[in-house]
Order: sequence, then C-alpha cells, then structure tokens
Amino acid sequence: RKAEMAANFIPPLATVHPVVQPLAFLLGTWRGQGEGSFPTITPFTYSEELNFSHSPNKPVIAYSSKTWKLNTNQPMHAESGYWRPQIDGTIEVVIAQSTGLAEVQKGTFDAEQRIVKLKSALVGNASKVKQITRVFKMGNGELCYEVKMATNLTDLQPHLKASLKKI
Ligand code: HEM
Repeated sequence: RKAEMAANFIPPLATVHPVVQPLAFLLGTWRGQGEGSFPTITPFTYSEELNFSHSPNKPVIAYSSKTWKLNTNQPMHAESGYWRPQIDGTIEVVIAQSTGLAEVQKGTFDAEQRIVKLKSALVGNASKVKQITRVFKMGNGELCYEVKMATNLTDLQPHLKASLKKI
C-alpha cells in the first residue's frame, strides 16, 4: 500500500527549477485592470492579460503582457521577456516592449512576502525614457504591480498601477 502510494506520488513542483520555485506562485495567466498616468499625460484605464510560464527544469520564467483600452477593447501596449531569479534572492529581467523599447531590470524578490522589486539597469532604444522601476506584489489572491518611469523632462513618477487575478 505504502509502496503503491509512493509510486503514484508526483511532487507538484517536480519540474520547476529550484530558482523558479520561490516565484512559482506567479506561474499561470492573470487578468485584470489598471490605470495609467504621468504628469505630462491624460490619465487612462486599461485591461490586461499577463502570463508567466516556464519550461521544465529551466532556470527562467517567460513573461508576457497584453493590454487593451477599457470599453473599446482596442489593443494598447504589449511586452514580453524573461525573468531570471537567482538562488540568493536577486533577479534579472529582460523585457522587449511593443514600442521598440528594450529594458534590462535588476532587483530582488522575497518569496515569503511575495514581492519582486525591479529597477532598470539599462533602457535601450527609447526616445524619452531614462529609467523604469517595477514592483510586483501578490496578496489576497491578487497580483498588483506599479510601474514608475523617468523621462528626459520628468523625474521618476508613477505611470502604471494594476491588479490582476489568476484565471
Ligand atoms: C505615455 C512609456 C507602458 C499607455 C507614455 C510616454 C512614455 C511612456 C515615455 C510619454 C510620456 C510623455 O510624453 O511625457 C511607457 C513605458 C511603459 C509604458 C516605459 C512600460 C514600462 C504603458 C502601458 C500602457 C501605456 C502598459 C497602456 C496600457 C500610455 C498612454 C500614454 C503613454 C495612453 C499617453 C499617450 C499620449 O497621451 O500621448 N508612456 N509606457 N503605457 N503611455 Fe506608456
């Protein structure tokens, strides 16, 4: 009986690489809404679908986001990239945006608090953007994030705030 149970037991995270495991709560598809602002623009709202996925035993999480204008469902910004957590609690993220902008983000994560904090180490091919920070926090079943940016004319200010639920 015991041997039979052992034979049937598949560890739930068996194929998740050890560095991905602390952030395994992210894996899946998330949907929600957000609001955008910046001192130089008119505030706006959007809907969003985020996806975090991984390949068995690879030390990386694939990330993608698509957004739509609320009410009209007209596509807005999209981006995708790779999250590379390290065993020491640091994390490196690369993101390619639909606008052509490329980001390398570096930061830290706390698996218990379910928080990831990122700050741009590199912003490339951008006409205005100088710096980007991103904070993701999971709580009460919701994944919330805040994005701030600095441009050539404006220092670091909030641009995006959203909360999403796993579907
Ligand atoms: C405006 C960058 C994400 C929608 C802007 C501006 C920049 C920018 C540089 C112009 C600000 C200015 O002229 O002073 C970024 C960056 C993003 C990002 C770096 C990601 C890190 C998004 C997303 C959406 C969005 C996800 C939609 C859901 C808009 C809109 C405007 C804007 C609607 C105003 C456009 C206008 O009024 O001309 N963004 N953006 N952005 N962004 Fe973003």
